[in-house]
Amino acid sequence: TTVEWEAESYDMGGHDTYMHKEISEQADAVDRVLRGRIDDRFSTVHLGGLNLDAREARGVRRVKILGCGTSYHAGLIGAQLIEELARIPADAEPASEFRYRNPVVDPDTLYVAVSQSGETYDVLAAVQELKRKGARVLGVVNVVGSAIARETDGGVYVHAGPEVCVVSTKCFTNTVVSFALLALHLGRIRDLSVADGKRIIEGLRKLPAQISEILATEDDIAKLAQEYAGAGSMMFIGRVRGYPVALEASLKLKEISYIHAEAYPASELKHGPLALIEPALPTVAIVPDDELLEKNRAALEEIKARSGPILAVAHAPQEKADHTIVVPKNETELDSILMGIPLQLLAYHTALALGRDIDKPRNLAKSVTVE
Ligand code: AGP
Repeated sequence: TTVEWEAESYDMGGHDTYMHKEISEQADAVDRVLRGRIDDRFSTVHLGGLNLDAREARGVRRVKILGCGTSYHAGLIGAQLIEELARIPADAEPASEFRYRNPVVDPDTLYVAVSQSGETYDVLAAVQELKRKGARVLGVVNVVGSAIARETDGGVYVHAGPEVCVVSTKCFTNTVVSFALLALHLGRIRDLSVADGKRIIEGLRKLPAQISEILATEDDIAKLAQEYAGAGSMMFIGRVRGYPVALEASLKLKEISYIHAEAYPASELKHGPLALIEPALPTVAIVPDDELLEKNRAALEEIKARSGPILAVAHAPQEKADHTIVVPKNETELDSILMGIPLQLLAYHTALALGRDIDKPRNLAKSVTVE
């Protein structure tokens, strides 16, 4: 059975689109996913439905995350969080690719299926194949009681509330936060120190206020969107933690504005895509203040040298960029959670400027329940 949300959750609440409403709800949504889960005494989190005891968690040798579209992108960030905080080798793969390549199913691997709707057929089929082969599969799912929630052995509910717009925004953010909770939980069972656990918890607690701070800059982002809405194509780049942010921002822009966009790891520019850079191709660069800042700045220089316009998302204004959207700094491991939020607004206002049907983009369905 599928549990239905309260009818009032579907009210537009004064917004013109569900997408705008859902973007605006993110501070509350993140607050909700954290609520009741933080354990300050042991600097960890409790995840009631996980169904994985400490001994089992210690036995996990790898984590493999499966999802589609935006959920896959959230999984890419999840894999990085699990590697960074729990030091377990982790990676993410589109569920559709995984299920068609006769994967080697390893008993020491923890599989995690990610889905907003909990009904995406490719993810469900991957879960069923894994279960048939005896694997342990957890779900990171938004819709309570959905097919994937039912088929998995346990998991983490994302608690984003109903997401009506075809493109995912608040659910993406809450899914990434859910992965941060899972990574912290696994880390504290393994080798993450009390001090680092505490540091991450403090970072998580700061997120809702920092999200509100970003959302308050919407008018400035709307102006930038006007400037870039005429572009025929856009490039998105990021390095390591920034790369999944670039992938997701480029998908969002494509889905609702129909502007062609590509996402590349910043390190790959010189291996090919640099040939595209010219004044008519703007680049959106994710430039967090982390150990890779100088490398990212070098990439901006390469783009500027070819007269490519640059919009940076960073923790401080970037000299080589034409514009910088400055976002508040959190703990380095959590920065990617915040860096995607202004780019949701950029995609939104670009689509608005182009008069697109934002909540129902052409050719797309909210959940893809067929092959
Ligand atoms: C997101 O903006 C897209 N509409 C799409 O990529 C979506 O994330 C994908 O189809 C997976 O859906 P799910 O999370 O419900 O499984």
